Amino acid sequence: MAVRHFLTLADLSPTELSDLLDHAIALKKSHQSGVVRDSLKNRVLAMIFEKSSTRTRVSFEAGMAQLGGSALFLSPRDTQLGRGEPVEDSARVISRMADGVMIRTFEHKIVETFAHYSRVPVINALTDDFHPCQLLADMQTWREHRGSIKGARVAWVGDGNNMCHSYIMAAEQFDFQLAVACPAGYEPDPALLNAHGDRVQVFSNPEEAVSGAHLIATDVWASMGQEDEQGARLKAFAPYQVNPALMQLADKDALFMHCLPAHRGEEISADMLEHRSAVVWDEAENRLHAQKALLEFLLLPGV
Ligand code: CP
Ligand code: NVA
Repeated sequence: MAVRHFLTLADLSPTELSDLLDHAIALKKSHQSGVVRDSLKNRVLAMIFEKSSTRTRVSFEAGMAQLGGSALFLSPRDTQLGRGEPVEDSARVISRMADGVMIRTFEHKIVETFAHYSRVPVINALTDDFHPCQLLADMQTWREHRGSIKGARVAWVGDGNNMCHSYIMAAEQFDFQLAVACPAGYEPDPALLNAHGDRVQVFSNPEEAVSGAHLIATDVWASMGQEDEQGARLKAFAPYQVNPALMQLADKDALFMHCLPAHRGEEISADMLEHRSAVVWDEAENRLHAQKALLEFLLLPGV
């Protein structure tokens, strides 16, 4: 059987994604009722982090332990990757020892190259272009609170970044309409917009994008690797803050999500995480459950 990877949401079919979310919800319930599971006993996940992380690291590491396996934290500071060993060679070596590899890095090409040379499943745990694991958690959270997202209207407010790109892919895979509001010059990748033109509409005005939306999501204005642009971005994004006044324009039962970490006073107002629409803590927790379902899907094919 060919090895499956999870580099973007397009690597799984809509049916596989839907089944995966059902499984994530079931795993969450059984974990919360104390059921011990060892489906990944003796399996090892190698975790390569070239950028910082709290949620991703803790959820993958805890998830592997809860399934009876283990996880290795590999940083460029103390592996040969940081001293220039080619990705191709690292992939061939690490994938002969580990049962799966999770990578958080810069260029998306790096995870593609790694996957090409890997004998085992590779998971994209965030690149400059995509953050598909976060979307699994977001879609699980929506499903738990509201059921199917099919036909819903979702608004992305802020940067046309890796999270926005993954929301565009999610619109296709989970069958919803996406309204993106971002300042000129910070729009999502035009190729991705063209490929999903029937799903996505771009607005320059956040009020218009949010009007009547059922889900509003945002993210930091300067992503990891864009620290030098912080000043210019703060200025450009100032009118794009998600706050209770903006939420007034959304559907009355709208939910608010943020992948975290959040910057209060920038992309959200100080009170936004306490707003009645906010489900950010469930969203963060669901990284754990959704990724456990993903690990079983990739590491135990056909089970
Ligand atoms: N949302 C997210 O990926 O968080 P971390 O950067 O803490 O992993
Ligand atoms: N867009 C953010 C997401 C962090 C989880 C970044 O890439 O830094």
